[in-house]
Amino acid sequence: MTQKQTVLVFTATGRTGNSVINGLIESHKFNVVAGIRAASKDKPEVEKLKSRGVVIRIFDKDTFDDSTVEILRGVDVLIVSAGGLTVDTQKQLVDAAKKAGVKRIVSNDWAAPTLRGVHQYYDSKAVVHDYIREVGIGYTFIDVGIWHQIAFQPLEESQEVYPGQFERFTKIYGGGDVKGAFTDLRDIGTFVARIIDDPRTLNHYVFIWGEEATKKQILGIAEKVRGIKIEPTIVSEAETEKQLANARVAGGFPQIMIEYEYSFWVRGDNVIENAKRPEYGGALDARELYPDIKPRRLIDFAQSLYAGSI
Ligand SMILES: NC(=O)c1ccc[n+]([C@@H]2O[C@H](COP(=O)([O-])OP(=O)(O)OC[C@H]3O[C@@H](n4cnc5c(N)ncnc54)[C@H](OP(=O)(O)O)[C@@H]3O)[C@@H](O)[C@H]2O)c1
Repeated sequence: MTQKQTVLVFTATGRTGNSVINGLIESHKFNVVAGIRAASKDKPEVEKLKSRGVVIRIFDKDTFDDSTVEILRGVDVLIVSAGGLTVDTQKQLVDAAKKAGVKRIVSNDWAAPTLRGVHQYYDSKAVVHDYIREVGIGYTFIDVGIWHQIAFQPLEESQEVYPGQFERFTKIYGGGDVKGAFTDLRDIGTFVARIIDDPRTLNHYVFIWGEEATKKQILGIAEKVRGIKIEPTIVSEAETEKQLANARVAGGFPQIMIEYEYSFWVRGDNVIENAKRPEYGGALDARELYPDIKPRRLIDFAQSLYAGSI
């Protein structure tokens, strides 16, 4: 019998981290370890992880050094899904993983394919890719398109997953007929459990996706499920470019958001066809690798959301 791989998810209290942990546990193929920040060790989520048999390792600091090497000792795969990490901090984590003998690192991506120079947030993730390759540690870079969970307008603004989601939903940037790829957050872990156990994905970029849809189709799904008419606000390509230029001067979260809208709905970067192109990183298609996984559909998500069961 081959020995189970030990997989550490840093950090497991987040939304992506939680999906990944679920996928790993349900696969029964791994020794599952959750990397938790000292400041978060008493969170109820951590108790829940322990009760599910997940081993907890506490990271004392938010920066990484030789003490991190000990925490990563014996780990085969390190999965990073922590928000708020600077590039420098991620580089420290890569250094520690290399010293600890980690065989594969899944870096903090989990977003959508694009080219360098389009999206500042993506560019900062790409710097970490370059560093991982430079250091010479095994890797898999994973993108997932747009979560179903942020594709729709919640019933109330207070239920937003990210700030501005409620108001932004009715805006159509560009013509509304450009396709984008979507994945239900809950499916990410199912795919990840397969990806990290697969030698074909070592040192590759993998794109997880459930379905492609245009912004008009998304609005159409919401209209159908809710039985209402939604009046969209059209933001023309020229107006989107103007907003983009202004946001790039101001910086911060508004820049991140408009750069996403521009990349998704004007440039049309976020589709499997692009992800596979060499200039986008030459992604392997997770749907082709694991055709037996049946991802959740947008319509089913919308029905559950608007029925109040999500
Ligand atoms: N594709 C999409 O539609 C989509 C949507 C949203 C996000 N994302 C991407 O998914 C990735 C993860 O985001 P998420 O939304 O899943 O995360 P999240 O739910 O915001 O969770 C953040 C996690 O990061 C940890 N964290 C926060 N600050 C940290 C720090 N300074 N050092 C170490 N850990 C820290 C938190 O741990 P504590 O419990 O210790 O605070 C928590 O576990 C990001 O790369 C993001 O860009 C993609």
